[in-house]
Amino acid sequence: MLFPLLLRRLRGRDNVRMKKPLILLIDDDDSLRRVIEFSLTEARYQIRTAASGEDGLRLFEEEPFDAVITDITMPGMSGMEVLARIRRVNAGIPVLIITAYGTIESAVDAMKQGAFDYITKPFNRDELRLTLDRALTMSRLARENVELRAEIQGKYRFDSIVGSSETMNEVLDMTGRVAASDASVLITGESGTGKELLAKGIHYNSQRSDGPFVAVNCAALPENLIESELFGHVKGAFTGATRDKEGKFELASGGTLFLDEIGDLRVELQAKILRALQERSVDRVGGSQPITVDVRVLAATNKDIDQAVKVGSFREDLYYRLSVIVLHMPPLRDRREDIPLLVDHFLKKFNPSSDVTVEPEALAALRAYGWPGNVRELENVIERASVLRRGAGISLAELPEKLTGEQTSIEKIILNLPETGISLEELEKNLIIKALEKHKGNQTRAAEYLGITRPTLIYRMEKYGMK
Ligand SMILES: Nc1ncnc2c1ncn2[C@@H]1O[C@H](COP(=O)(O)OP(=O)(O)OP(=O)(O)O)[C@@H](O)[C@H]1O
Ligand SMILES: [Mg+2]
Repeated sequence: MLFPLLLRRLRGRDNVRMKKPLILLIDDDDSLRRVIEFSLTEARYQIRTAASGEDGLRLFEEEPFDAVITDITMPGMSGMEVLARIRRVNAGIPVLIITAYGTIESAVDAMKQGAFDYITKPFNRDELRLTLDRALTMSRLARENVELRAEIQGKYRFDSIVGSSETMNEVLDMTGRVAASDASVLITGESGTGKELLAKGIHYNSQRSDGPFVAVNCAALPENLIESELFGHVKGAFTGATRDKEGKFELASGGTLFLDEIGDLRVELQAKILRALQERSVDRVGGSQPITVDVRVLAATNKDIDQAVKVGSFREDLYYRLSVIVLHMPPLRDRREDIPLLVDHFLKKFNPSSDVTVEPEALAALRAYGWPGNVRELENVIERASVLRRGAGISLAELPEKLTGEQTSIEKIILNLPETGISLEELEKNLIIKALEKHKGNQTRAAEYLGITRPTLIYRMEKYGMK
């Protein structure tokens, strides 16, 4: 992949001595201001301070700052207002927000408005420095990214992710923009749409690409093991814990932690994960010392997590932490133009040494099918056909029956459209009746047959006044 190579080359420039970063600190709390000023000066920053938002903005106009740290609640102009004004003048400059415990919501708002991150009072100096360092690195990378893009020419791509439909291009374009940052990304989408593949793409195109990519499937782990799996344990913590063990958070330190099937996580563990993310440290089961970890978290789910938040089975605060950026993988049936590309991709994968092609009728069947299992299902179908094929061509005979069965060839049903036009509603009504007749009035089966949910079927039946 081109991008990580270039990144690595750029990273080499870190060795060049740079001028001290210039930081603007805005806080009405005199003593906190002094403490931060002292600690940051000691850590090779140049710092200017202001006791109010108004003063801060005046200073901001005078010098070329590299980052801004601002308290959120101040008399007069609030930190949010400061943030908004700064973003208007210079959207590239990272702004860190200081919040008091209990005002996390406004901090989340601030992040939505473009703040880089927030730190909760009281914080220690390492935490502030670390966050600031990350902010500076990221804004530098973002600047370099712009140069890089010009260098690559044309659109940024992730090599292993096949697809050129409009929706995939949108996803990939967005992914390209967020990959280099350290922002948490929540990837949603049906099973088999490529969520894990995208997560890997993000990791390998990020500044953490030299670090580990560690995936945890939150749904697959037995309840009694998941905590130790995530956070590790010390020897003797429970029966069977015969030695100290690192958890996935620690293993992923310096890299990316991929929390797969996050929607299946129990609420107690959600709280623990939230704490680990906020404090950037974990407690091993049975351990007494918190261990600092530096991970970027990517999460994925095929569940409707908004709904889970509404009914209280998923913590809202964790949801906000994880979903700074949300990427949605579209189902394959909504981007059928990608099917031929994917077929080609998998044919090469499963037939590396020969040129295998797909006959036109077989390709038509592949394009017409609904793909409930999405790309994974397509991959399996092509693998199967590659094993079964007799010559260099894949024909209908090598495709599973579900693809070649009657119900999939829509063209056959509505081939002869009348000149005078047809009523779509009439057609839909008739199809519903036929589907119900075919399944002896069983609504669940009729809905399945029509590729819709039962509530949708009932809704439409009511719409057409059917019993
Ligand atoms: N756009 C794509 N290009 C190439 N291969 C893809 C693409 N999307 C998915 N795949 C392949 O399809 C398979 C399923 O993808 P992946 O495991 O990423 O899906 P998922 O969304 O995580 O599924 P699940 O929710 O079931 O875990 C993988 O083998 C992956 O490599
Ligand atoms: Mg997956």
